[in-house]
Amino acid sequence: MSDVITTPYSIAQNVRQCCLLEPVSDSARLDTEILLAHALEKNRTYLYTWPEKLLTVEQQTIFNQLMQRRLNGEPIAYIVGEKEFWSLALFVNESTLIPRPDTEVMVETALSLFVDDEPEKQRSVVDLGTGTGAIALALASEKPCWDIIAADNSVAACELAKKNQQRHQLHNVTVLCSDWLVAVDVADVDLIVSNPPYIHENDPHLFQGDVRFEPHSALTAKNNGLADIETIVLQAKHVLRPSGWLLIEHGYQQSAEVKEILQKNQYTLCRTINDMAGQSRMTMGQWIA
Ligand SMILES: C[S@@+](CC[C@H](N)C(=O)[O-])C[C@H]1O[C@@H](n2cnc3c(N)ncnc32)[C@H](O)[C@@H]1O
Repeated sequence: MSDVITTPYSIAQNVRQCCLLEPVSDSARLDTEILLAHALEKNRTYLYTWPEKLLTVEQQTIFNQLMQRRLNGEPIAYIVGEKEFWSLALFVNESTLIPRPDTEVMVETALSLFVDDEPEKQRSVVDLGTGTGAIALALASEKPCWDIIAADNSVAACELAKKNQQRHQLHNVTVLCSDWLVAVDVADVDLIVSNPPYIHENDPHLFQGDVRFEPHSALTAKNNGLADIETIVLQAKHVLRPSGWLLIEHGYQQSAEVKEILQKNQYTLCRTINDMAGQSRMTMGQWIA
């Protein structure tokens, strides 16, 4: 996209420019459609309804700039400022991780633990390292009677989570700035969920694809990526009620280590859950005081 097109193309002609993105994206056509719809401030259906419609010069310029950003490798979610998680459209920005579809397994698992609850049963829940608020807000959308604290140590991430909470009017979520549980004043918690940083600081994946644009503070942890998990496991014991659950997302090669950390800290019924690709990506344990 180095040649800036000043003569506007039609919608269909612009969609055909998706081939430009093929070297940088596995979903070149979808990316192009999302960027085009964004430039036109329409949804993707509009592109199929009006394929012959010519863009204005301004729309064409905006679209070209968006395509250039994608060509530079920037993730689609950062370019359009939004990502869907659990059917909730969430604002995203460079202050934190873009929520991943695989993390929805954590939401499903958390909900399954309380499937026998009466419909209005109140539960106390904490989401540690909430980022956009994805996990907390998904749970809140399913369980309006749960009290959920969404904590992150990044002020910018907390602001973002708050914006998302307000966008979806999920009043049962309180966003809090905290270094893990340090500033979270709770006791007798039923459930703690966390997708913490867990990547080794020198992992080569940090320098590839979308991850290059995400903050290392959301991705990496010391001690082979396990330092934050160790802290969370340790701190959670002091706030979970007896029989409360801790659910932690981790790297696909870390399940044995995370299970060991949980067991060493006297959690029971420890087990690992696979993500949608069949990789072991989440381990949970129950706190029996
Ligand atoms: C992997 S991201 C997960 C974001 C979100 N929960 C999700 O699943 O999309 C980890 C988050 O943990 C936060 N974090 C890192 N260190 C933290 C700490 N010491 N205390 C609280 N949050 C922390 C980061 O700011 C980041 O938002």
